[in-house]
Amino acid sequence: MNDYTPTREDRFSFGLWTVGWEGVDVFGGAVRPRLDPAAAVHKLSELGAYGITFHDNDVIPFGASPSERDAALKPFRQALEETGLQVPMVTTNLFSHPVFRDGGFTNNDRDVRRFAIRKAADQLDLGAELGAKVFVAWGGREGAESGAAKDIRAALDRYKEAFDLLGQYILDRGYDIKVAIEPKPNEPRGDILLPTIGHAIAFINELEHPELVGLNPEVGHEEMASMNYAHGIAQALWHGKLFHIDLNGQTGPRYDQDLRFGAGNARGAFWTVDIIESGGYDGPRHFDFKPPRTEDMDGVWASAAGCMRNYLILREKTAAFRADPEVQEALAAARLDQLATPTAAPGETVDSFRNDEFDPDEAAQRGMAFERLDQLALDYLYGVR
Ligand code: GCO
Ligand code: MN
Ligand code: MN
Repeated sequence: MNDYTPTREDRFSFGLWTVGWEGVDVFGGAVRPRLDPAAAVHKLSELGAYGITFHDNDVIPFGASPSERDAALKPFRQALEETGLQVPMVTTNLFSHPVFRDGGFTNNDRDVRRFAIRKAADQLDLGAELGAKVFVAWGGREGAESGAAKDIRAALDRYKEAFDLLGQYILDRGYDIKVAIEPKPNEPRGDILLPTIGHAIAFINELEHPELVGLNPEVGHEEMASMNYAHGIAQALWHGKLFHIDLNGQTGPRYDQDLRFGAGNARGAFWTVDIIESGGYDGPRHFDFKPPRTEDMDGVWASAAGCMRNYLILREKTAAFRADPEVQEALAAARLDQLATPTAAPGETVDSFRNDEFDPDEAAQRGMAFERLDQLALDYLYGVR
């Protein structure tokens, strides 16, 4: 019997800000002490993770002098060396400091935009040094609460400019890093720019170096917009744009719950793991969750362990589902093989099948047999098969 113990081969990674969240929210202050970054590295390694990710200011205090920066990084680097934990991704905090009250890359204030781009470039340097392959860009403060205050078309020009400048910076420095945009519909801004996977994919096509930029979709963010996360990442894969993922749990369209992965929409989590495991994604399985404020540090680690455990449980269940002969039969009955077959044979044009024999009334009688197939999946999810 599988005991669902994670290993490094499973490639689980965690944001330092997830287990390090002190519980500060709009209604109350910290409920937990500051988590030392080096201690987080050790604990995550012990739990079976292979990687840790961080915003610049999760490790280096905002405005640190070069010597303060080195002092902050030293124990963190040492913990990485001692444990062998990787840093597969880094990101920049362009949202906490009051200077980013109107965002970073799309702030109306030009000086702030120039500062934000410099700050991102600094973190690219550090990421390259630590071997990160992905740079996540979450623009939580890029947006608006009101109408005329933000010219959306001009803001998108400035957003594009920032990604073009940073793309050029990556090329000039020869960094082996790709940028992953993380969409979110709202929170903290009333309306955030690039609110969904679809918006971001269309935006990437307008960039100078679209090949350098892809996506980091988050479960909760898509579900806040009533989107189907598994469908969203399937489309990102189809475009060759799934560069990274943020896994967590969410219960429908409401505030960003950041539950541990597998909590919240469990059926959605089943199909999420199914597509991650079978759709050709080979990046880290990264968790971006918030251990609830109810928890002390023991609860934080239980919550982190739960993310990995739930992923492994669902990986086993989805693999068993796919391998089940009855499922394969049900897939054929649902005509998935036909969906995979091109509508026109090679060389055919519309005129080639203009005169096909076809009786729509007869075809209209054929049920799709989807319910039996879906019930087989639910039988696996509910643990009776
Ligand atoms: C959120 C976001 C962030 C980002 C992180 C990485 O809703 O707060 O998910 O956690 O993922 O800032 O850039
Ligand atoms: Mn989030
Ligand atoms: Mn996220």
